[in-house]
Amino acid sequence: MKTLITNGHIVTAVDSYVADILIDGETIAMIGKDLASVVSNIDRTIDATNKLVIPGGIDPHTHMDLPFGGTSSSDDFETGTRAAAFGGTTSIIDFAVQYKGQALNEALDVWFQKAEGKATTDYGFHLICTDLPDERLPELKSLIDQGVSSFKLFMAYPGVFLVDDGTIFKAMSTAGENGGLICMHAENGVVIDVLVKRALAQGHTAPKYHALTRPTRAEAEGVHRAIALAEMANSPVYIVHLSCYDALKEVQNARDLGLRAYAETCPQYLLLDYSYYERPDFEGAKYVMTPPLRGIENQEKLWKGLRSDDLQVISTDHCPFCMKEQKELGRDDFSKIPNGGPGVEHRMSLIYHHGVAQGRINLNRFVELTSTAAAKIFGLFPKKGTIAVGSDADIVIFDPNREQTISATTHHMRVDYSAYEGWTVTGVTEVVLSRGNVIVENGEWKGQAGAGQFIKRGLTGA
Ligand code: URP
Ligand code: ZN
Ligand code: ZN
Repeated sequence: MKTLITNGHIVTAVDSYVADILIDGETIAMIGKDLASVVSNIDRTIDATNKLVIPGGIDPHTHMDLPFGGTSSSDDFETGTRAAAFGGTTSIIDFAVQYKGQALNEALDVWFQKAEGKATTDYGFHLICTDLPDERLPELKSLIDQGVSSFKLFMAYPGVFLVDDGTIFKAMSTAGENGGLICMHAENGVVIDVLVKRALAQGHTAPKYHALTRPTRAEAEGVHRAIALAEMANSPVYIVHLSCYDALKEVQNARDLGLRAYAETCPQYLLLDYSYYERPDFEGAKYVMTPPLRGIENQEKLWKGLRSDDLQVISTDHCPFCMKEQKELGRDDFSKIPNGGPGVEHRMSLIYHHGVAQGRINLNRFVELTSTAAAKIFGLFPKKGTIAVGSDADIVIFDPNREQTISATTHHMRVDYSAYEGWTVTGVTEVVLSRGNVIVENGEWKGQAGAGQFIKRGLTGA
């Protein structure tokens, strides 16, 4: 099957030019001017005049079908990757979980079963490790060899996910020696637990207390500690879902010292703020996620961090729970509200609108932040994350001038609310190709459950 995309404005992390792209099978075969005059037997032509042609988005932080907080995230690998594709994201890296006593491979197998036959686009896995005695450390190397080259460790959620500093240090040493990467949920969960118990004892049960018991200093302390541990272990570290200036300063200081500290932020921290928790009628529960939304003064600092490359990636931390029956579990106790929110579908448009269209970042940086940098850091590049001869034909044709209004009534995520209900944004994903197959075309779904393949990732670029 040969597909020709003509006359599009091709944008990568470094290029910007008008040309045609020939896709042969699953990969990009040629890029050039007027390819129709030199190539025969073209099966399909897509006119991309006046459209951006960009690498498919990569979201390296999603939680499909995650058991958490007494329930499970409401998107599975089918609905979640489908919604992602509608928004121009063609690869996700999801978090498998190792529970206490499990071998790492045993844990991973459960997530393979969740994804196989369901994922509509390609996917990789990180592994959340919760139980890493010394005898299990060699299993980290075995997973890296199998293409799962990153691991998430938690400084938060004592009794559930939290691991101690010694374990973090040893895991970093092993990962670092073998080309793996530790992704750190950096928040002082022990102190946060004390604050949560104090708040509840005072009768403070409303959603806003989720934020008020998770100060920015708790995050900054975690980030500082994670980077110090990584420095001692001679390994890189990747801070996930960084939410505030306090934490960003720690990353900035480390990078100024030449340390291998990397970090992502998410649209919710760039665009939403603490005031959402003050909404009446339990509406604040929609925004209960960890770290919480912060004071609005943090937002421009984060954008600045994205421009200066102190933050390298914009992921979503997509972890949706419906208001009905799920968020409601915490109606009388904020600590029982399942933590997480939906976002995988609108990342590209939100960042295009608030980033590019509003002059905060340029087009190349947009592509880098939403695709290329994650591909490099997580060992997917150049198969994914760029438009180049030989790369997978994961391509998005994006109309930079069309508007859309975001709403739960029209979105494709399996969740009963949108964090951005009623927001109008400029920039719409029109056509999406996943390994050469058109899976979204002008609002219509053309993809297939099970068509997504596991991506065996290489070593970290960090
Ligand atoms: O609230 C969040 N972020 N839920 C997902 C789990 C995590 O820590 O990423
Ligand atoms: Zn986390
Ligand atoms: Zn997460």
